[in-house]
Amino acid sequence: MSDRDSWISNLGFVLAAVGGAAGLGNIWRFPWLTAGNGGSAFLIVYLLVVVGIGVPGLLAEFVLGRCGRQTPTAALRSLTGSRWGSWLGAFNVLTTLVILSFYSVVGGWILRYTLVSPVGTYFGQPQQYFGTMSFGLEAVAFHLLFLGIVAAIVFFGISNGIERVSKVMLPGVVIILLGLAVWTATQPGTAAGYAFYLSFDAEYLAANFLSVIGPAAGQALFTLSLGAGVMLTYASYLDDNASLPRDTLVIAVSNTFIGVLAGLVVIPLLFSQGVDPGQGGPGALFVALATAFATLPGGELVATAFFVTVLMAAVTSGISLLETPVATLVDSFGVPRRRATVLVTVLLAATGSGLALTSSVFQFVSGTLADLMLTVGLFAFTVIVGWLLRGDALAEFRAGTDRFEWLAKPWLLTVSWVLPVVVLFLLTNTLASLAG
Ligand code: PHE
Repeated sequence: MSDRDSWISNLGFVLAAVGGAAGLGNIWRFPWLTAGNGGSAFLIVYLLVVVGIGVPGLLAEFVLGRCGRQTPTAALRSLTGSRWGSWLGAFNVLTTLVILSFYSVVGGWILRYTLVSPVGTYFGQPQQYFGTMSFGLEAVAFHLLFLGIVAAIVFFGISNGIERVSKVMLPGVVIILLGLAVWTATQPGTAAGYAFYLSFDAEYLAANFLSVIGPAAGQALFTLSLGAGVMLTYASYLDDNASLPRDTLVIAVSNTFIGVLAGLVVIPLLFSQGVDPGQGGPGALFVALATAFATLPGGELVATAFFVTVLMAAVTSGISLLETPVATLVDSFGVPRRRATVLVTVLLAATGSGLALTSSVFQFVSGTLADLMLTVGLFAFTVIVGWLLRGDALAEFRAGTDRFEWLAKPWLLTVSWVLPVVVLFLLTNTLASLAG
């Protein structure tokens, strides 16, 4: 294992992890979930969940990764000393395959919108355009293109592929989003959007807390890439000098910042064009935003900048999802990386094409199955860290710095007691809503 690839620098790891976390979840899913769940009320609950569950959970996953120094199957097997560990790892790998299958379909849509935005092809009839391109053979083709871009990066490995690309794309995402947010603020008619998004409505919050917490928590897990073994895999390429608590904080804060920033672009823009952002869910964002871009001055330019950003964010997340199954083949089965990349990509080309052809299955996989699998994965991680590793987990927490010593025990307590209970509650909630 000594010739295992690794990050060139800790900054490279942080950028790649933020790149992996910040993706379609932040720019595509977060704004429409927020808009559909009362705006500011959702934002507040979401932020609470990120701090209370997301941050300790992410740290737990990092601890598993660096403690095990392997991909999920091998790491979890050696850490638990049981075959159940390998099964859990295999479940993680399956989770990444499931997520990437639908993720690349949406990535394909984004790629297509990026290419046609400069000429505003969809400006005339946004609804129809989305309707005809989203599922079918053309969707298959663009999904394959997106997958090809992601595979080409993973092909070159951690330091030469993933780290290099993340160092360019992530800053790119932040800079363009900042520019777009400033530009949005100069547009007329955005005040109602800001009010909806940022005003604190205690009454609404009190009345709707229970219905908001489910989606908010699901979004928090999804956006931080928690429970899939992806963050575990990234942390397995770290050395002992890195401080996991510090990196976790930086990553969680940056990721949240990117989500909130995307909301500052999307929500006011929709309001300014009189589009109801809460309507229709996932597809509607393409339609609603497209409607807004079509009427805005310089809409082509803004649309292009926006979709380029979403594309870069989606690519850096896609590579984190592909890295986990690829690295598993490399680490556990001795398959050379390049061959492993091709093998997994061919598999995903097939599964993703299936989803690009059948919107009902796509809906179930992207809306329910993914969240469910992440929740199960995170539950198992918290049990392993909080009940099995304990002392070793604390040692991993402390490696690299003693600045966060005061947080070590409270963190472990949270991971042992609070996280499993909350995650289990979420799981039963999701299952109940499925049954009902
Ligand atoms: N966090 C990514 C996003 O927000 C999605 C993701 C989920 C990636 C789970 C990896 C694992 O787009």
